[in-house]
Amino acid sequence: MQQAEIGLIGLGVMGSNLALNIAEKGNRIAVYNRTHERTHEFLGEAGDLAGNIIGCDTIEEFVAAIRPPRPIIIMIKAGDPVDQQMELLKPHLAANDIMIDAGNANFHDTIRRFDALKDSGLTFIGMGVSGGEEGARHGPSIMVGGTEDSWKRVEKVLTSISAKFNGDPCVAWLGTDGAGHFVKTIHNGIEYADMQMIAEIYGILRDGLGLSAGEIAEVVAGWNKGRLNSYLIEITEKVLGAADPITGAPMVDMILDAAGQKGTGKWSVIEAQNLGVAATGIEAAVAGRVLSSQKQEREAAEKLFGLPKAHSVSDKKALIADLESALLAAKIAAYAQGFAVMAAASKEFGWSLPMPVIAKIWRAGCIIRSQFLDEITSAFTKDPHVANLIVTPAFSEMVKETDGALRRVVSHAALSGLPIPALSSALSYFDTYRRGRGTANLIQAQRDFFGAHGFDRVDGKDYHHGPWGSGAAIY
Ligand code: 6PG
Repeated sequence: MQQAEIGLIGLGVMGSNLALNIAEKGNRIAVYNRTHERTHEFLGEAGDLAGNIIGCDTIEEFVAAIRPPRPIIIMIKAGDPVDQQMELLKPHLAANDIMIDAGNANFHDTIRRFDALKDSGLTFIGMGVSGGEEGARHGPSIMVGGTEDSWKRVEKVLTSISAKFNGDPCVAWLGTDGAGHFVKTIHNGIEYADMQMIAEIYGILRDGLGLSAGEIAEVVAGWNKGRLNSYLIEITEKVLGAADPITGAPMVDMILDAAGQKGTGKWSVIEAQNLGVAATGIEAAVAGRVLSSQKQEREAAEKLFGLPKAHSVSDKKALIADLESALLAAKIAAYAQGFAVMAAASKEFGWSLPMPVIAKIWRAGCIIRSQFLDEITSAFTKDPHVANLIVTPAFSEMVKETDGALRRVVSHAALSGLPIPALSSALSYFDTYRRGRGTANLIQAQRDFFGAHGFDRVDGKDYHHGPWGSGAAIY
């Protein structure tokens, strides 16, 4: 029997869709699942594609079915199960075989797993896959981290199954060990910020302007034809337009306002902090989800404080136009922060992350796919090492054009008591970033006062402490 090009363990939702995608693109694939019933059920579901799929009941059979060096995708729950699966697999593998973790792993685990295999002759790829179920089935965005040799072994198959943007495959080798999973983590961090900002705009339309879900869906549909065109805006329109099959009310109004999270947003924030990069949009989004889950406390606080009256709006149309521009301005800040985190991580972990390539493979297939990412691709292609996306010619123009709207929206929301942690963080980030003389001179003075921590002077003179307590006063 002709051997498979690749193997896959774990026929859950993501695993089975990925396997069908691989088979559909003409690649032979061997599959294995812990429960054999699922393997047989999957072969039944595969229809005509089953001809390209070798279903295996034992690990021995599975390994023997794959052409060496064997690339084996592990698509199971992130964390300990991956380590356990790798231990079970290892004794059956031979030199240069590649275990590929395609889950949402913490990149520190990926580095640990990669390092642990270093002297074994085996190797490891940490592969970020974005696009959910639909993406896995028809074309995800794929972020690969591992050795260049192992990438070459899987490049053809992964290119065949990836999403395409104007014919360009949305897959790339981004560097060694944890590079792929790190980039996927930041993708998700940006995803959190983007979703939070859209939800805040929705809040202004719903609670500030009193629009119904259907009316907001129409507004959002218009935005999807403009500069905000993106998958997240597209699904927002669909979500807002859907009716609850049980009550007939807008579905979104029947959903509890308590957001879940599995960890990638939090990891993005932790890494940003560790790397000393301000990622205020992602931080606000994670904090927003945390506060959203404290439903009972929020309800009690509402009883205690009440809610401010919505600030009156004389020109609703103008505010709605401002919301569109404000969202774009805030998005620029959040994406700039995400890319800045990746630039810092690239240095810290020695990855040489290619910024234009990352933007390029996020243009299709993934959750944050958008026209906006094509513009980011162009900006980074012109200047791959720019300090901050905001200062590139194209984005600085966009910021100049939209920051007034963001300012008006933030003021309106503040006066109406509407929560906008991510939008206001974007404005503050911009205002802080673009002000040459800030206020940290006072913080330095305070630090020196109570802890003799020292400061640098604006005139460069070699005096690093203040005359606190003993020196001349100026008032
Ligand atoms: C993707 C998604 C995917 C998943 C997240 C959701 O890129 O396809 O980001 O990875 O939907 O795990 O994360 P939360 O449950 O933390 O929102």
